[in-house]
Amino acid sequence: MNRKEFIHQIGIICVSCSAAAIWLEGCTGIHYAQHQWDGKDQKIMVSKGEFLDKKRNTERKFIVVRNEQLDFPVYLWKNTDGYIALYMCCTHKGCELNPQNEFLICPCHGSEFDRLGKVQNPPADQDLLRFETREEGDFVCIFPSK
Ligand code: FES
Repeated sequence: MNRKEFIHQIGIICVSCSAAAIWLEGCTGIHYAQHQWDGKDQKIMVSKGEFLDKKRNTERKFIVVRNEQLDFPVYLWKNTDGYIALYMCCTHKGCELNPQNEFLICPCHGSEFDRLGKVQNPPADQDLLRFETREEGDFVCIFPSK
């Protein structure tokens, strides 16, 4: 391979990698939901509309809520029975979890939790903290202190 061919191939690889990165980001993008904090009732209020992906005209299975009242975000999953709110703090040594498909994965030492917050893989040996949720009209309310 001569120099010109080499540069041409590197260029193709770079363009391909950029396109793949954009495509993957679109597939695995995490939606950080808009929300309100109700200090009187100590609850986070999230519109149910946050689960709608208007671009793709589909419904999101989960969203993430990052509220300044909490040190870690909340994973809010909509299932057939209602809403599950999990504190995204690993019970092993307190790293922030990453949602990946049907699991929450710890980037520090590899613990895995399912969408109910149950430990699936160690080293964590305790389930995630789960917050009470309640539907109030068009909102899902999360109660971090309950
Ligand atoms: S802090 Fe999560 S596995 Fe260690």
